[in-house]
Amino acid sequence: MATPMVLVTGGAGFIGSNIVDGLLADGGYRVRVLDNFATGRRENLTHCLGDIEVIEGDIRDLETVEEAVSSVDMVLHQAALPSVPRSVKAPVTTNEVNVGGTLKLLSAAHKSGVRRVVLASSSSVYGDGEQLPKHEGITPNPTSPYAVSKLACEHYTKVFADIYGMETLAIRYFNVFGPRQDPTSQYSGVIAKFMTAALDDKPFTVHGDGTQARDFTFVENVVRANLLALKVDRLDGSAINVACGDRITLLDVIETLGTLTGRTSEIIFAESRVGDVRYSQAAIERALDVLGYHPSVSFEEGLRRTLEWYAVNRPDRRGL
Ligand code: UD1
Repeated sequence: MATPMVLVTGGAGFIGSNIVDGLLADGGYRVRVLDNFATGRRENLTHCLGDIEVIEGDIRDLETVEEAVSSVDMVLHQAALPSVPRSVKAPVTTNEVNVGGTLKLLSAAHKSGVRRVVLASSSSVYGDGEQLPKHEGITPNPTSPYAVSKLACEHYTKVFADIYGMETLAIRYFNVFGPRQDPTSQYSGVIAKFMTAALDDKPFTVHGDGTQARDFTFVENVVRANLLALKVDRLDGSAINVACGDRITLLDVIETLGTLTGRTSEIIFAESRVGDVRYSQAAIERALDVLGYHPSVSFEEGLRRTLEWYAVNRPDRRGL
């Protein structure tokens, strides 16, 4: 049998490029990347350019997407505009990229005979309900345009499974962190920002009182979930959580960083963000049932490995 071809959309981004590395390490796939390098970085792929095919283009452009899915067996769809606050500022662009891009991808993939599409969804779809942990039986209740966009993508992936018989799955990522996460943007994830602040002895800006909690998930866990999603016998269009199953506050993050670095930085408290969720924690039983997934890297271990990476690789210091 020919080696299956996997397309990673957003493959130059933080999560996408880690997935590319996971696919190459597995050895059982040919890998193609589609990225417009808007938030993705060429540097994330320089070490493996000889082993992959790269198409530079936008997920909103149907012709580009059609070219990208040609001869592809399976797609790991990571291309998206992340960030809750960005979506509050730019809801239309967020929708065009996330929802419009996903629909074009699914449509082109179906036409081209792609067997399987795995969507990067988000814990944000749950919104701010009181029930914890968040399990997949809870009715989503998005509180930001970003969350709405991811929920719409989930519905599309399900409908493409139901109507066209495609094998699809939506993986709800819970606050992923790790090497290559960009710390430089105002929309960067909190761990990337706090980590570089800690290394530079700069203050941590905490929106709210710091007791909001997240199920911070090291990127390697998410990579493993995606690889499992390529291998399981059957996908039925459902959505599953991928996380560690923990609830960690921002103040916990700051304390653990202090222990790991041996330094303490000042904390500046600022206004809570509009659209922010207060508590997020995943139930991960369904991921075990559907994929055989369990988190192999804990939050603390992930934080340690990420810190090691930032100590020698500083995207913000390379003028990138
Ligand atoms: C949300 C989703 C997450 C998704 C991400 C994509 C939830 C629960 N999570 O992440 O699954 O992957 O969007 O962008 O909806 N904060 C500070 N100081 C900072 C930066 C952030 O205090 O400098 C706070 C935020 O207000 C928030 C928390 O840290 O309370 C986490 O923020 P962030 O890392 O941006 O991710 P979410 O918005 O939680």
